[in-house]
Amino acid sequence: MTNQNAANTEPWTIMRLLQWTTEHLKKSGSSSPRLDAEVLLSHARNCQRIELYTAFNEEPPEEVKAKFRELIKRRAQGEPVAYLVGKKEFYSLSFQVAPGCLIPRSETEHLVIECLDRAKAIRQSSPSHSFQIADVCTGSGCVAVSIAKHLESAKIVAIDLSEDALEIAKTNVNLHGLADRIELRQGDLLNSIDNESLDFIVSNPPYVSESEYSDLDRSVKNYEPKIALVSGESGMELIEQLAVRGPEKLRPSGWFLCELSPMIADRSLEFIQGLGTWKNESLVKDLAGNKRILIAQKA
Ligand SMILES: C[S@@+](CC[C@H](N)C(=O)[O-])C[C@H]1O[C@@H](n2cnc3c(N)ncnc32)[C@H](O)[C@@H]1O
Repeated sequence: MTNQNAANTEPWTIMRLLQWTTEHLKKSGSSSPRLDAEVLLSHARNCQRIELYTAFNEEPPEEVKAKFRELIKRRAQGEPVAYLVGKKEFYSLSFQVAPGCLIPRSETEHLVIECLDRAKAIRQSSPSHSFQIADVCTGSGCVAVSIAKHLESAKIVAIDLSEDALEIAKTNVNLHGLADRIELRQGDLLNSIDNESLDFIVSNPPYVSESEYSDLDRSVKNYEPKIALVSGESGMELIEQLAVRGPEKLRPSGWFLCELSPMIADRSLEFIQGLGTWKNESLVKDLAGNKRILIAQKA
């Protein structure tokens, strides 16, 4: 791929491109170099990843190699793969992403699962119940869209402070044909909600402390929006505000489901238990065994 290698007459087949790039990205600090190489090559070649495997011995045309070289250069500098290809899969759905929104993370799928499980239980006893949900801090809209896709007739208000994020959320809501059930709203946490009978407040708010922020990986710190990540000195500011204001907006026994980091999980649980406005408070772990979702029901 480099000039130094240009003298080598061996063709740059897909297999060779992937091998070289995997080593290169490993050296530049990627934790998933082979996957990155495959995703970026299939993007440059405009094909599915699986198609690379049936074309290992082919040499891509010069324009594909040039596009791939450029993508690899940017990836090696730390730019996230999802921004380079402009999309990310979440809850088996495809979402457009751009630097104005956080890249959806797989841990956040637990928020969707916990919401859908509870909604299904409610539907069993009340089959015609139509759900009112707020997705606070919606970013790309991945949580709101995933819930709406799987919960027929649910109406969701998806809120974010950032105009850039809301633009991307709008694209995703339209892409998934949900504009009639998801209302996008610019606002600060729950301030814009008059409704006092929500069934669920779901949120993946910023929850990184200022000191943790400085230690984040460069591909997060240098590329993803700080407003999507940091919540004051402790990382708990926004979660505390949601916990305090949540009960005003929920119907009796309505649910608050909130993603957080394992570092603040126990403190957040204690905080919410101390408020006296909630019941059935608990923490749910993610697949890695980390405490990840704070759950509470309006008392
Ligand atoms: C961690 S991201 C979550 C995005 C998306 N829900 C996801 O899970 O990928 C947090 C989002 O909260 C937004 N945000 C930050 N402060 C906010 C506030 N006070 N009110 C509403 N949204 C806020 C940011 O713009 C960002 O889009």
